[in-house]
Amino acid sequence: MALTLPAHPDPLAERLHTSGLLQELAHGLGGGFHYLLPERFDANLAAFRTALADADVEGRVYYAKKANKAAAFIDRCAASGAGVDVASPGELREALGHGVRGEDLVVTGPAKAQALLRVAVQQGALISVDALDELDRLLALGTGRPARVLLRRHPPAQPRSRFGLDDAQLHEALTRCAAAGDAVRMEGFSFHLSGYDVQPRTDLAGELVGLCLKARVLGLQADRISIGGGFAVDYVPADAWTAFLAEQGPGHYHGEKAFTAADFYPYHSPVAGPAALRAVLAARPGGEGTSLAEQLRQAGVMLLLEPGRALLDRAGSSVFRVQGVKDREGYGIVTVDGTSLSLSEQWFDSEYLPEPRLLPAPGRPAGDGGPFPACVGGASCLDSDLLTWRKIPFPARPHAGDLIVYPNTAGYQMDSNESPFHELPLPPKVVIDHPDGSHRPRWRLDR
Ligand SMILES: Cc1ncc(COP(=O)(O)O)c(C=O)c1O
Repeated sequence: MALTLPAHPDPLAERLHTSGLLQELAHGLGGGFHYLLPERFDANLAAFRTALADADVEGRVYYAKKANKAAAFIDRCAASGAGVDVASPGELREALGHGVRGEDLVVTGPAKAQALLRVAVQQGALISVDALDELDRLLALGTGRPARVLLRRHPPAQPRSRFGLDDAQLHEALTRCAAAGDAVRMEGFSFHLSGYDVQPRTDLAGELVGLCLKARVLGLQADRISIGGGFAVDYVPADAWTAFLAEQGPGHYHGEKAFTAADFYPYHSPVAGPAALRAVLAARPGGEGTSLAEQLRQAGVMLLLEPGRALLDRAGSSVFRVQGVKDREGYGIVTVDGTSLSLSEQWFDSEYLPEPRLLPAPGRPAGDGGPFPACVGGASCLDSDLLTWRKIPFPARPHAGDLIVYPNTAGYQMDSNESPFHELPLPPKVVIDHPDGSHRPRWRLDR
């Protein structure tokens, strides 16, 4: 039996899928594409800001640009005064070029190149310093402008993390900042944790509030902390996820491929996105004393956050066109006009599990004797190039010309790994405005 794992219902996307627009776009663009819904990004951003306001915490949201290369989302940041977390010269150029002000950027990532540091200082961006030698290079720049820095904390609860400064290095960094005078503005501390748990974020944030108080004794500004990203996205309902994990095994995948639960992103999260921020703020650091929100207020510390995936929740999907279908014993292999590079969970030797939707080609009747279990292969010569190894229970046998829509792919799935392998064109990105039917839906290419 094929295992099913549909995404949460999305009436707006469903209306778009049945409107005929996607077929028209596939025809006009000559194949697969990604579509983007910037209005959803706006709504997610507003929900994060509301969570901060409801907790009476002064804070700022920086969109982690690494989660999607599209310009449309950066445009929304520029329009709404949101910050952007950039981790490379290219991301910084993109953000500035789309109108995000330098002072609204935070530059993250390890061992940042000298050219990146220089532009960041000249633009007045906040720089999350990851190592002592990076701090030294920054202080030696001599641009005549102060470097705005956060010192990134190595997370004690994740000792294997390669990021951040440990206790001794933090102490040394504070001493060097204090000695650097006007060359540096030490604004506070930062971290980014792997995983999606709430309490470790509250705990480390509480520790950073304490570090701010200590740094102020040295005459440093230290009035903000960044808690990074890692706000989960809830893709599928709880019961479906539990059942899936309990039942899945090699028989459910092409080539008997074996996955354990730990190989998968946690596609269901009871507390996700802005609700996770509310929980982080309401929890008590170390499980004692007052809430993190209260501690931030008391200490006069601003809370910065860098959500990537969560700001992109339901803000885009990936559309592929079926090129052919063939049979194996008990299931089919659907080949689409794209590659697994456009669905990057395969990068982690994992699967993007929320189920794709089959849209029959115009004029083709919807059903012929389904369900039809099939994996989904890419149009390359690599045996391992599968978008989905799982035998997905399609409602009917797909045919060439049908579309397959992977839902909710804007967060990291769409374009992290894309390359024009075989000189296949990269799927273009199409921005859809007014998908809710409030006005006539319009489309434009993302630039
Ligand atoms: C420093 C930093 N901030 C923010 C993020 C964004 O994380 P997420 O997309 O899980 O919110 C990342 C992701 O790697 C990161 O490294």
